[in-house]
Amino acid sequence: MNHLPPFLLYITGVTGTGKSSVATRLAELLFLEYLELNTLVLEKGFYLGYDINRDSVIIDDELLVSSIESIIKRKKRLCLDGGVVPLDSTFNFIIVLRCHVDTLRGRLLSRGYPEEKIEANIEAEIMNIAYHDAIELIPSHNIVEVFNDEFSVDETCNQIISIISQHHPSVLKGFIN
Ligand SMILES: Nc1ncnc2c1ncn2[C@@H]1O[C@H](COP(=O)(O)OP(=O)(O)OP(=O)(O)O)[C@@H](O)[C@H]1O
Ligand SMILES: [Mg+2]
Repeated sequence: MNHLPPFLLYITGVTGTGKSSVATRLAELLFLEYLELNTLVLEKGFYLGYDINRDSVIIDDELLVSSIESIIKRKKRLCLDGGVVPLDSTFNFIIVLRCHVDTLRGRLLSRGYPEEKIEANIEAEIMNIAYHDAIELIPSHNIVEVFNDEFSVDETCNQIISIISQHHPSVLKGFIN
C-alpha cells in the first residue's frame, strides 16, 4: 500500500463516544496505521502522575507530542485515536465522535465508572469539549462531528468515508468504491 497518498486522520471525542471501536475499523478500511494515544501513554510511561479526582493519569504532553510527531514522520498514513493533544503536524481531517447523553451514560455505567467520572464526561460531551479542542489544531472546515449512537460501527465508518471522499477524493481513489 506504499503507493497510497499520505493521510493523517484524528478520531477524537469524549470517553465512551466510540473512538476506538470506530477508529480501529476505519484504519482497516482506509489502510491507515492505527495509533491509540492512551496505549502509547501507558506503554511508554508518558505520564506525570495520577489524578485521583479525575480517576485518570496526568499525561506528560511534551513527551507524548514529540513521540507522536516522530511516528507521523515515519508513518505517512495514520489514524490517531484519543483526546486532542497540541501537535504541530497538520491533520487532513479530524472526526469528533459524538454521542447522545443517555447512550453515553449507559456506556460509561456499563464500564463501572464512578458517578463523578460519568458526570464529568457527560458535562464534557454537553459542552462539546472535543470539538473546541479540535479547532485549536486545524481549521473548522476540516473537522466533522459525527453522532454514532444510532448507527452501527460499520455504518459510522461508511458515513466518515463518504465525508472524507467529498473533501479529499484523491485520498480514497483506487481502493474504496
Ligand atoms: N455505533 C457505535 N459506534 C461506536 N461504539 C459503539 C457503537 N454502538 C455501541 N458502541 C459501544 O460503545 C462503546 C464505545 O467504547 P470505545 O472504547 O470505542 O469508546 P472510546 O471513545 O474509545 O472510549 P475511551 O475514551 O475510554 O477510550 C463500546 O462498548 C462499543 O461497543
Ligand atoms: Mg478508546
